[in-house]
Amino acid sequence: MTERVEPIPTTVPTGRTMTGRPRVAVLGTGAMGAPIARSLLRAGFDVTVWNRTRRKAEALAGQGARVAATPAGAAAEAEFLITMLTDGDAVAAAMGGVDGALTALGPDAVWIQMSTVGLHATRSLLELADGRVEFVDAPVSGSSGPAEPGELLVLASGQRALRPRVRPVFDALGRRTLWLDRLGDGSRFKLVLNNWLAVLVEGMAETVSLTSVLGLDPGLLLATLTGSPLGSAYATAKGRAMVEHDFAPGFPLHHAGKDAALALAAADHWGLELPLTEALLKRWDEAIAGGHAADDVASVVTAAAPAPR
Ligand SMILES: NC(=O)c1ccc[n+]([C@@H]2O[C@H](COP(=O)([O-])OP(=O)(O)OC[C@H]3O[C@@H](n4cnc5c(N)ncnc54)[C@H](OP(=O)(O)O)[C@@H]3O)[C@@H](O)[C@H]2O)c1
Repeated sequence: MTERVEPIPTTVPTGRTMTGRPRVAVLGTGAMGAPIARSLLRAGFDVTVWNRTRRKAEALAGQGARVAATPAGAAAEAEFLITMLTDGDAVAAAMGGVDGALTALGPDAVWIQMSTVGLHATRSLLELADGRVEFVDAPVSGSSGPAEPGELLVLASGQRALRPRVRPVFDALGRRTLWLDRLGDGSRFKLVLNNWLAVLVEGMAETVSLTSVLGLDPGLLLATLTGSPLGSAYATAKGRAMVEHDFAPGFPLHHAGKDAALALAAADHWGLELPLTEALLKRWDEAIAGGHAADDVASVVTAAAPAPR
């Protein structure tokens, strides 16, 4: 009887194992980072994860990921490194410093920055990379629902020559990659899309409340919008969640508020006012103060209720 000998995964200088599986480090295994890591594992990548709260990263060990104690430990010998953390400060903390991933990444490695951090932080992170590693700006559109089966929309920008290299990574976690020309355009377009999302959600919240105070059935509103040119599938789905008070997070309000604030900051830089976004952020802060920070963005309907008379 011949004994089956498993190949010993030895590292070769390119960041691949002897089995040819490219190594990917994922920093941040929250609501988005964990399904992204799972998509990469399903696609056959050799995945190492790191999370500030280690327990969350360890949940992925049973699914085939290695768990590193530090960002540098995750980055060692990685061909690709993905950051999927809350904001620019969190990404800078994980990449910089003595245990930071940048201390361990090789010069051929590609840092794929997928967190939504806005334009100012994207510039700072690019400065932090300082040409020591390749940098691709690649925030995603889509929440944990589409992240799980690998159906995100990747908004990518970076050197054209890197596109073929990172394509297998993006194909594993997204249904589509939209490549944009200038480095940073991924983050610019992410702000544009999420500003639109914010206006749609607030518009739905206020319209659901108006329907109710006029003594009409919000179900009639949603049924009339569904499939009509006036409707948007996203807004109607959020409207249904508002009517049913189902605030289980898809897209948590604190992230949606962060993104609206980032859009305001970007517009302000160019002297553009966004009065709708500015106004809705005040309402969203009320919903956050009311305990809805971690709830779905649909919970902003709570701030659109009529004031008591
Ligand atoms: N959720 C969505 O629907 C969605 C959709 C598209 C894009 N995004 C964007 O994707 C990014 C991640 O979102 P998420 O939903 O995965 O968030 P999340 O579930 O709240 O996870 C946040 C992650 O960031 C880490 N973190 C926060 N502050 C840190 C710090 N100072 N140092 C190190 N790590 C820190 C957290 O670590 P701990 O576990 O230790 O707290 C966790 O790993 C955000 O930029 C968000 O805007 C989210």
